[in-house]
Amino acid sequence: MLDNYASLNANWSYPTAIRFGAGRIAELPAALVAAGIGRPLFVTDPGLVALPIVGKALAILDAAKVPYSVFSKVDGNPTLANLDDGLAAYRAGGHDGVIAFGGGSAMDIGKTIAFMAGQARPVFDFEDRADWWTRADPKGIAPIIAVPTTAGTGSEVGRAGVITDPSDHTKKIIFHPLMLPKVVIADPELTVDLPAKITAWTGMDALSHSLEAWCSPFFHPMSAGIALEGMRLVKDWLPTAVADGQNITARSQMLIASSMGAVAFQKGLGAMHAMSHPTSSLRGSHHGLTNAVVMPYVLAFNQPAIDEKLAALARYLDLPGRSADSVVDWVLALRRELGIPHTLKEIGVDESILPDAARMAELDPSNGGNPTPLVAADYDRLFRNAIHGSL
Ligand SMILES: [Fe+2]
Repeated sequence: MLDNYASLNANWSYPTAIRFGAGRIAELPAALVAAGIGRPLFVTDPGLVALPIVGKALAILDAAKVPYSVFSKVDGNPTLANLDDGLAAYRAGGHDGVIAFGGGSAMDIGKTIAFMAGQARPVFDFEDRADWWTRADPKGIAPIIAVPTTAGTGSEVGRAGVITDPSDHTKKIIFHPLMLPKVVIADPELTVDLPAKITAWTGMDALSHSLEAWCSPFFHPMSAGIALEGMRLVKDWLPTAVADGQNITARSQMLIASSMGAVAFQKGLGAMHAMSHPTSSLRGSHHGLTNAVVMPYVLAFNQPAIDEKLAALARYLDLPGRSADSVVDWVLALRRELGIPHTLKEIGVDESILPDAARMAELDPSNGGNPTPLVAADYDRLFRNAIHGSL
């Protein structure tokens, strides 16, 4: 039964203005005008700040005589300290908006700086729980322009930022509808120099978003449709984007697959992300890589609940056999082709993360979107399967 949703009742929103296409970073000054920003804080990460793509974007701002300053003190998994530093830079520079330029970490911290610019309460009071977002003063939220430079997180079309809480080492999702960027510039030319490994890992993150959204039990047919097409784009283009990074068509298709994955996951995520979040928090593992490693174990574990959905996906992707097993086989083959390890052990994660990781996975917000909600004992088994390669 494909249409077995948890409920036929939901709130939906899809509103992001995206300027998509090669070379469109040239429209950054026009996007600032459209977003009502006169004095942006340009937020990026320390790896990007020295690269030509940042230099080119800043030269475009200079040519348009836009006053700005740059903030790039962001960790791979953004922390509360990063946020505090960013807010200090925002206030010191008298800024009135943010350009969030980069991959997931730069976009998450940039969006959260803009959100926190005028709030009186501490950031974790706005964690994505119940209606905590209504605690925020909407007038204190600065406008955001998002410019993705990786194809995976899709944070440019999302209304949240993920910040690690130092008090319990968990990643917390900070959510508010006005964290949705006013304008997105999605320029595939910014992604052509991404190393093959990062292209593969971030691309697998995009796949995990669409795949978990497709499998989640929540009612959101618009997201379901987007998830399917997002996965087709990954299947048809990720191997090319990894093998030939300069291929602008493959880079374009992966950039849109990334945005589509993030739109799709309004429908929910699942155990891949519930496992990946604590693994990254506890061991610093790359988010997309971790999702890619755990992906087939989660699919196999969930298979009784998603057999028909996976078979429908196999038909859409035109996989040999057109069954649920075909999807697992395809994921395994894709991982091999992209050079992604088969076990968590191979990426430096062993049983020492248990039982903390299993307990944290149960509590992770993504667990609620898994086809069957799991408890810590289930996650303990799943982690052991993924550590030891037991499919
Ligand atoms: Fe993700």
